[in-house]
Amino acid sequence: MGAVLTISEANPAPPCSIVILGASGDLARRKLLPALYNLEVCGESLLAPETVVLGFARTRMTTEEFRNSARESVNVFSRLEVREECWRSFEKRLEYLAGLDQPDGFKRLRERLEEIERGRNLPPNRIFYLSIPPDAMRASVERLAEAGLISRASGPNFSRVVVEKPIGHDLESALEIGRTLSRFLDESQIFRIDHYLGKETVQNLLVLRFANTIFERLWGARNVDHVQITVAESEGVGTRAGYYDRSGALRDIVQNHMLQVLALLAIEPPVSLDASAVREAKLNVLRALRPIAPENSGALTVRARYAAGRLGEENVRGYVEEKGVARDSRTETFVALKVFVDNWRWSGVPFYLRTGKRLPHRESLIAVQFKDAPRILFNRSGNLPPNLLTVRIQPDEGFSFDVMAKRPGLGLAISPVQMNLRYSGAFEGPSPDAYERLLLDVMAGDHTLFPSDAFVEKSWEFVQTVLDSWRDDSRAPLREYPAGSWGPKEADALVEADGRRWINP
Ligand code: BG6
Repeated sequence: MGAVLTISEANPAPPCSIVILGASGDLARRKLLPALYNLEVCGESLLAPETVVLGFARTRMTTEEFRNSARESVNVFSRLEVREECWRSFEKRLEYLAGLDQPDGFKRLRERLEEIERGRNLPPNRIFYLSIPPDAMRASVERLAEAGLISRASGPNFSRVVVEKPIGHDLESALEIGRTLSRFLDESQIFRIDHYLGKETVQNLLVLRFANTIFERLWGARNVDHVQITVAESEGVGTRAGYYDRSGALRDIVQNHMLQVLALLAIEPPVSLDASAVREAKLNVLRALRPIAPENSGALTVRARYAAGRLGEENVRGYVEEKGVARDSRTETFVALKVFVDNWRWSGVPFYLRTGKRLPHRESLIAVQFKDAPRILFNRSGNLPPNLLTVRIQPDEGFSFDVMAKRPGLGLAISPVQMNLRYSGAFEGPSPDAYERLLLDVMAGDHTLFPSDAFVEKSWEFVQTVLDSWRDDSRAPLREYPAGSWGPKEADALVEADGRRWINP
């Protein structure tokens, strides 16, 4: 490998208390605690020595019990192997308080935090991670404020709030959450998590675009035929029907993860790498996103849900037979959209987005297909395959570029060959988990990888146009696809109508 150019080191994290509201829940168990443990890596911990993690939830348990259950989670979900001496130093950071649902819970939280801070000589730098259901978000923020735990930024110490998606159920509720947060906090204190932004391959999109001159010169309507973004999952709704059945694929994936990826793909060069410059440039992409008018929803959108089918060796049930799903549910588990970014660079270039559960395998993929070669020389027949740049967000992280080459031989035959970069071969060691990077950035106060208030609002404005267009069921009726397939035939028709096809991984 050639010389490494370091633009910035990992953000240094000041000493702070990380209070996880909902610490006994799934997200804390699967993601937050393992990520924090991985930041502890022995000897060179990225956490400041005084930093504590205070679990705050409804479940009654002692700190000792919380530590034991955290150990179990870390054993199962940690990226790095659990080493005894690392665990011992990490577990000393863990504290627990029950009472999230009690009338005096937040007052007790404040007392406990102050006690911890005094005992550990910790400055009152506080992060409140709202790992709680969306309908509890507003009340929790209000109660944090009432207890004097959050107030507008001032002085040398900080109080920050981290909110998880879903931020809202529609445009109106998203605006309402935004108003609640901004009643008590400055934008600089709010961190909205979209874990896709913490993924290495998603972070790499800006590098791919602006650290390589070759792509940037080709990037736009002059040379790009179309772009595809696929977020495929083989899992069904699992144990999350309570949330998912009220949400659906459009709200769960498109409104956040996919529009973030789209913004990074279509972004104009930001004036600098500062958070505000990057966020502003991303916002400009959404400002140019063409709304979907109701009369166009049949041509531009497809929604569907999985029926019973086969995944690998397994027979799986259909969505409506899943536990917790309403029998008369109309929720989509698959969406395909054709969207346009109406700006100078992308004028007329379709972006096809597709996401679904119970597809053949888990794969998030971007494909940028370049225009056909002129119908002369090697492309007289019009059959010469186009160049294709494929970015594999996961699981086999990397990207490849299809170029045409002469097949060795005495005749003249041409076929696409792939220049392929795989992270696992090109770089040493596994990538950090998205939550490791994002938690570190919250501690450091770096907003670059967090959606802004304005982005969330704009993304909902667009998604609301789709939701509105679906209100009349006859326009884009809910279709079905067998589990284990790539979605309904209408999704194929969406791209085939334009003479294109989906690139299935
Ligand atoms: C979450 C969605 O935001 O992202 C889930 O709520 C989805 O439904 C998950 O499964 C996918 O994340 P990843 O990192 O596995 O691609």
